[in-house]
Amino acid sequence: MNLLITGSNGLIGTTLAKAFSGKFNITGLDVTQAPAESTVPTTVADGSDFGAMLPAFTGIEAVVHLAANAPVETPWSDVLKNNIAATHNVYEAARQSGVRRIVFASSNHAVGLFENDEPYKSIVAGNYGGLAPGEFKRVDHTVPVRPDSDYGISKVFGEATGRYYSERFGLEVACLRIGTVNRHNSPVQSVRQMATWLSHRDLAQLVERSLTAPLSFDIFYGVSNNTWRFWDIQHAADEIGYTPVDDAEDWRDRLES
Ligand SMILES: NC(=O)c1ccc[n+]([C@@H]2O[C@H](COP(=O)([O-])OP(=O)(O)OC[C@H]3O[C@@H](n4cnc5c(N)ncnc54)[C@H](O)[C@@H]3O)[C@@H](O)[C@H]2O)c1
Repeated sequence: MNLLITGSNGLIGTTLAKAFSGKFNITGLDVTQAPAESTVPTTVADGSDFGAMLPAFTGIEAVVHLAANAPVETPWSDVLKNNIAATHNVYEAARQSGVRRIVFASSNHAVGLFENDEPYKSIVAGNYGGLAPGEFKRVDHTVPVRPDSDYGISKVFGEATGRYYSERFGLEVACLRIGTVNRHNSPVQSVRQMATWLSHRDLAQLVERSLTAPLSFDIFYGVSNNTWRFWDIQHAADEIGYTPVDDAEDWRDRLES
């Protein structure tokens, strides 16, 4: 499969390029130059510049669209350019170039305001009193969107654009509401990550299945099999066979205070 990864120089892009090496024929697109040690042929272009990024889609069968400003506190002007305009450009370039499938890096922040409600509010604070793992309703792909930021709004936009391009033009689209992927590949930065962590190998498995399993449009949560997870992974298990192997609980004794 000829696979284009946008945002290929970032944390998730480099993690996936490593995991998929030898499996897929990978090219990249990023606004920054690829580091000297990278083996991924990379188009340097700004995703918000349609003409500049379109040539990178020639001959591509699937796209993993990661390019964006990733911090939740990204100001609106950057969100508008790098997350919203660039994402629309990616779908349109894919349509014009005959790409079959897009895996869109959405985010848990598309539904972040559920964390204002119990029991999620207590779980992200590490207050588990009176709760038992899984004995509460998990947030799934059918809930209304509840973005918690301009960044979260941009991820809702990316999901809605994906549904439009899927239903209107037949593009296959998987939107991944990713939890927390970090460079440490461990959930030790905050107690919230005991619920939200996604390990690098579970990430790679989820993206690979989203690229290869039959689907037309769907939304999956990107989270490991964490004891205290409050996002649903049963839907991803049922639809694409996602079977995460990691659990943040195994790291709790190393949690930074
Ligand atoms: N890391 C996480 O925990 C997490 C969680 C939820 C969602 N996501 C999403 O996954 C994606 C990748 O995240 P990451 O952690 O690897 O972020 P990152 O910041 O490490 O990588 C993003 C990459 O996108 C590139 N980029 C930004 N704007 C661009 C533009 N206009 N044109 C071309 N390239 C551009 C950057 O240069 C960078 O290399 C993002 O869309 C992010 O919102 C990440």
